[in-house]
Amino acid sequence: MKEISFFDQDKVLITGARGMAGSYLNFGIKTDRESLDVTDLKMVLDAGRKHKPKVIIHLAAQTDMDKCENDPDHAYKINAIGTYNMAELAKEIGAKMVYVSTGGVFDGKKDGLYGEDDTPNPQTYYGRSKYLGELIVRGMLNDYIIARTCWLFGGGPGKDKKFISKIISQFEKAEIKAVDDQFGSPTFAKDFIKTLCGLIKDGKTGIFHIVNGGACSRFEEAKEAVKILGAKTKITPVSSDSFPEKTPVIFNQGLISRAVSLRPWQEALREYIEKEWK
Ligand SMILES: NC(=O)c1ccc[n+]([C@@H]2O[C@H](COP(=O)([O-])OP(=O)(O)OC[C@H]3O[C@@H](n4cnc5c(N)ncnc54)[C@H](OP(=O)(O)O)[C@@H]3O)[C@@H](O)[C@H]2O)c1
Repeated sequence: MKEISFFDQDKVLITGARGMAGSYLNFGIKTDRESLDVTDLKMVLDAGRKHKPKVIIHLAAQTDMDKCENDPDHAYKINAIGTYNMAELAKEIGAKMVYVSTGGVFDGKKDGLYGEDDTPNPQTYYGRSKYLGELIVRGMLNDYIIARTCWLFGGGPGKDKKFISKIISQFEKAEIKAVDDQFGSPTFAKDFIKTLCGLIKDGKTGIFHIVNGGACSRFEEAKEAVKILGAKTKITPVSSDSFPEKTPVIFNQGLISRAVSLRPWQEALREYIEKEWK
């Protein structure tokens, strides 16, 4: 069973609940773009006045990095102005604001994992728009959690549009190429949500990194996925130059936390693939 229930009440308002991370929340008032467009301030304030949540879990975002790069105004509208609207609501009704951010706020040049106290320096429009969201939350509110995560996998067929589903969709090929010069912290969205809910329940505030243990390259992540699937596909390591992209490459998004510790990413990936894909 992939859903998690921690709050048996209707005092939690969730935005972007139909996305990958939202699929692991089965409590609260779950909204999507149609029922609560975060870029529409009136809609946001009306929803807040109607439901009077004590906690807002703000997941809604434009998460397609290429779309953000091609249209920065669109990225800022959803990820920054949308977050401003949710923060204004939180302020008006005195709710705790939980904002999900990304390892993409860092420049990727550090030799090692990024901790909560490292200084952001985003290099992409996705990263800039998410970091602006962080600054808005910190500037407007006292009772908040900013939860940064990285390389989420989850949701299963249908909701998973990221790296792992792309590998799974190709696993019958003889060969898949994956880059071995980009590093991150693969994280099961289910583990992320469970840890986040624990922080909310414990009344924590501040910035937290929430990732599964360990870090790896995309090449290593793909190799592990293929091993779990029991496939014979050869994974060939290549450099990022092999996939020329308009979006700047972040070579290191690996995170570590001073506050929480999650199981290793390999164990989480095995559970995800075996329970939700096989
Ligand atoms: N996925 C990752 O690897 C990753 C890593 C670090 C941080 N994060 C952060 O984690 C959070 C959840 O990510 P996710 O992977 O669950 O993303 P996701 O699957 O893309 O879900 C995001 C949801 O937000 C909705 N949304 C977009 N614009 C909206 C708007 N104007 N109003 C209301 N809803 C809107 C989307 O709806 P539509 O489908 O209709 O557009 C989608 O259902 C995001 O804040 C993301 O930035 C994700």
